Amino acid sequence: ISRVRIHHLQQAKDNGGRFAMLTAYEQYTAEIFDQAGIEVLLVGDSASNNVFGNETSLPVTVDELLPLTRAVSRAAKRALIVADLPFGSYEVSPGHAVATGVRFLKEGLAHAVKIEGGAYYADTVKAMVQAGIPVMAHIGFTPQSEHSLGGYRVQGRGDDAQRLVDDALALQDAGAFSVLMEMVPTETAATVDAALRVPTVGIGAGNTTTGQVLVWQDMAGLRGGKMAKFVKQYADLRTTLSGAAAAFGEDVRSGQFPGPEHSF
Ligand code: KIV
Ligand code: NA
Repeated sequence: ISRVRIHHLQQAKDNGGRFAMLTAYEQYTAEIFDQAGIEVLLVGDSASNNVFGNETSLPVTVDELLPLTRAVSRAAKRALIVADLPFGSYEVSPGHAVATGVRFLKEGLAHAVKIEGGAYYADTVKAMVQAGIPVMAHIGFTPQSEHSLGGYRVQGRGDDAQRLVDDALALQDAGAFSVLMEMVPTETAATVDAALRVPTVGIGAGNTTTGQVLVWQDMAGLRGGKMAKFVKQYADLRTTLSGAAAAFGEDVRSGQFPGPEHSF
């Protein structure tokens, strides 16, 4: 099995193909998704609310994400590993972004990084790409800006669609190898995808992007609570794990576990 590379994602776009991307934050899910053929694993800053127990993605730090990135990268033999640069780790200047990006490739063993933001970040993307750090750009709804955007809201509706096209083109021209769109109307996402040479990835952005991404705990039904409209749940791990834990607890309390077969 040879490594998925950026040029393979570009080939998918060029040939009308598709690729799949899931988040991963540790060893076993990385190994499982990698062996299941998922092309891209994202060590998302969504670890903030899916691993570290925060309410939003804002509090998670570089020092928290680096060891998760390293674990995922060590465990996955084929997938391309993309790491999110967390809020506050790249905004100050292109040099700031380069320095953080280097840490994710050097200490996190990531193959690429993702940053949130539009045309304003073109110079930042350019500096990172020149330093040897491949960049995926994230536009549309950008969770790190949720307070600026006024909460979880679809972006790029109606007249606002042109802004997303302009952002995407500026980021592509700056050297981004892919543009991810979150919570964007299907029609807008299709317009952006058609305007770009590089592959797009969607989450809540319809079915015309080259790639699709979901947070794995949503995809596999581990997280409880209300799911966003764009989530499709492919398993019910929460029920499975809850049942296993309850059964273990009962076996222990009733003296059924450990049995002779588990004892020395
Ligand atoms: O952090 C994350 O999970 C993301 C999404 C696009 C899946 O950035
Ligand atoms: Na993210």
